[in-house]
Amino acid sequence: MIPSNILLYCRPGFEKECAAEIMELTTQAGIYGFIKSRPDTGYLLFVCQPEQSYQQLDQVIHYAELVFARQCIFTPELVTNLSVDDRITPLLDSIQKLNISFSDVWLETPDTNEGKQLSSFLKKFSSPLLRSIENKQLLSKAGDWRLHLFFLSSSAVYLGVSNIHNSSDLIMGIPRLRMPRSAPSRSTLKLDEALNFMLNEQEQKKYLKNGMTAVDLGACPGGWTWQLVNRGMRVTAIDNGPMNEELMETGMVEHLRVDGFKYRPEKTVDWLVCDMVERPLHISRLIAQWLTDGLCQHAVFNLKLPMKKRYDVIRQCRQLIEQELALLEHPCTLKMKQLYHDREEITCIIL
Ligand SMILES: C[S@@+](CC[C@H](N)C(=O)[O-])C[C@H]1O[C@@H](n2cnc3c(N)ncnc32)[C@H](O)[C@@H]1O
Repeated sequence: MIPSNILLYCRPGFEKECAAEIMELTTQAGIYGFIKSRPDTGYLLFVCQPEQSYQQLDQVIHYAELVFARQCIFTPELVTNLSVDDRITPLLDSIQKLNISFSDVWLETPDTNEGKQLSSFLKKFSSPLLRSIENKQLLSKAGDWRLHLFFLSSSAVYLGVSNIHNSSDLIMGIPRLRMPRSAPSRSTLKLDEALNFMLNEQEQKKYLKNGMTAVDLGACPGGWTWQLVNRGMRVTAIDNGPMNEELMETGMVEHLRVDGFKYRPEKTVDWLVCDMVERPLHISRLIAQWLTDGLCQHAVFNLKLPMKKRYDVIRQCRQLIEQELALLEHPCTLKMKQLYHDREEITCIIL
């Protein structure tokens, strides 16, 4: 039982993009193999040929750089035919054969309706399984590896391992964010997720400070502006539509009814955020221009994905932005991720 394949979780419907990305990355690293996937299942398997050790794979794949993967784990073959009478004995046997000590154990499913239907089974099954794993002394709080049991049904499961320093630290790669009562739109959760999970703790302290300034392009009704105001920033909101009145009453927002592609601030702002629905290359050019013209220090923006060739378009956007950022005197980094709250889109941050 060598965890020598790569299992990626993704948003159902984005298996093709996730596959294209891992294919490109592994080929660049000289690792070959093939993809096993089915549309709308919310996961895919990259089977390495020849086999690779999980430590080697972990060196090559940097989770934070994957755009379409919510989680990345290393796994042997699927464990099937678990019997209703006793699932624990064969599972423990397979777990012991991995020969790794784990700091944690997560029971997960794909993010699909079939996956959701397994939740009551998992609730019942998790306590006895965890107890058995503890009794066999397979847990060691100091270890770097986490054990995943990714259930496709109550009789089939992928056992997998992830490096806790090189994987999502969210179960199923899904954040549980609460919709703030006074936020004007559900879009607010996209920016909340981006700022909470694409920035680490140090970056949040350094880059999100009371008294900072921001411009929000395509701001109405104000969900993204709300997140910035909530972090103590003064925001210029650009949109022809109406802004939420309660948000305007905070006195922290100036609303200008002008074209987001033409507006330029008089002074450099700390943050540019942009959620306008436009072609992704058009948005990428605009954001790169703000940075190279010194109009903002950092940026968060959404790229709405086209119906076809979604991965190709994202590669083009990345290339365009990185080419422009390379012209800057100070180094900037671009992070791209399809977040849980993103639908047909991805979120980008430039620091
Ligand atoms: C997805 S909504 C933004 C939602 C917003 N982020 C929120 O959280 O409430 C897109 C907005 O972009 C605005 N928009 C589209 N093109 C624009 C342009 N050229 N200039 C300014 N606003 C634009 C639309 O009017 C719309 O309100």
